[in-house]
Amino acid sequence: MSKAFSVLVTGGAGYIGSHSVLALLDAGWDVVVLDNLVTGFSWAIDDRASFVEGSVEDMALTARIIADHNIGAILHFAGSVVVPESVTDPLKYYRNNTAASRALIESAVVGGVRHFIFSSTAATYGEPEAIPVQESAPTVPINPYGRSKLMTEQMLQDISAAHPMNHAALRYFNVAGADPEGRSGQSTDGATHLIKVAVEAATGKRDHVAIFGTDFDTADGTGVRDYIHVSDLAAAHVAALDKLVEDPARSYILNCGYGRGFSVSEVLDAVDRITNAPIERRIEGRRAGDPAALVADNSAILDTLRWTPQRDDIDLIVADAMAWERKLAEKRT
Ligand code: UD1
Repeated sequence: MSKAFSVLVTGGAGYIGSHSVLALLDAGWDVVVLDNLVTGFSWAIDDRASFVEGSVEDMALTARIIADHNIGAILHFAGSVVVPESVTDPLKYYRNNTAASRALIESAVVGGVRHFIFSSTAATYGEPEAIPVQESAPTVPINPYGRSKLMTEQMLQDISAAHPMNHAALRYFNVAGADPEGRSGQSTDGATHLIKVAVEAATGKRDHVAIFGTDFDTADGTGVRDYIHVSDLAAAHVAALDKLVEDPARSYILNCGYGRGFSVSEVLDAVDRITNAPIERRIEGRRAGDPAALVADNSAILDTLRWTPQRDDIDLIVADAMAWERKLAEKRT
């Protein structure tokens, strides 16, 4: 059955965006991708989607896309995501994550777009006082990245109150893994994320993995995070869209995680299990700004959306990340 409108996906050539494009297409949506290809890859965009190369800041362009393609919903992934870079170059983050979002939201409101889904982050909480962290916890981000995203959440709240556009702000915890069918995966060079770094070490792209701190107040002393498989996260976006359409008067802020944490050592153990060849671990000091533990209370998303995680298993996450890394390694040779 064809849908009443098409969906615009910004950042659809990026890691989480490209997986969400797959999930939308698989669910029968017509999709238009807008991406400037600065960090994304055109090959990551499924052929079934239309593609426009350009910037979300370009209001003439976004207005034209919205009108020409009967856009009824926007999934807004485009943005910058490197926390340490946000500290050294905050203007880039306030531009790409805050100002660009404002421009896109204005085009959406003027163009009569009724639904908006925003890629937010657990970094909006800063260092939470209680774990697992609920959506109602104080939002006190500790870096410009988190603040740049929180500002956009706040804009969306004001805009949904004033205009007929509801929204979902999805606060991602640690996203990892790759499409189980091998259609996309994390492909950016110079990755800093633990699972990506570990699978790079396992395929010989690096010679070791650093453990940033073994003196945290956690069971084994290493940092604990809530790792969510990118395909489950993509499915959550499709479920959020269905919910926004079903109840146009309501907006949502939802944690996206499994509600269970794994330590750095446990993640590296999973990588060793998958490859059957231990990677070298080197203990280093703590990385600035790393909280000891960050785990989602995910009861709100489970109660609100028709969403059941399919790949809530650290070994599956690592195995999918590994399979994708092997593909990338083949491409390089
Ligand atoms: C960070 C942000 C998160 C953001 C994400 C995306 C914070 C608190 N979190 O996640 O909001 O969405 O980046 O860019 O700012 N680690 C190692 N060795 C490594 C790499 C990581 O030990 O080589 C450890 C870290 O210290 C941490 C865990 O592994 O305990 C996960 O780190 P990482 O994958 O970089 O993600 P976050 O920093 O949690």
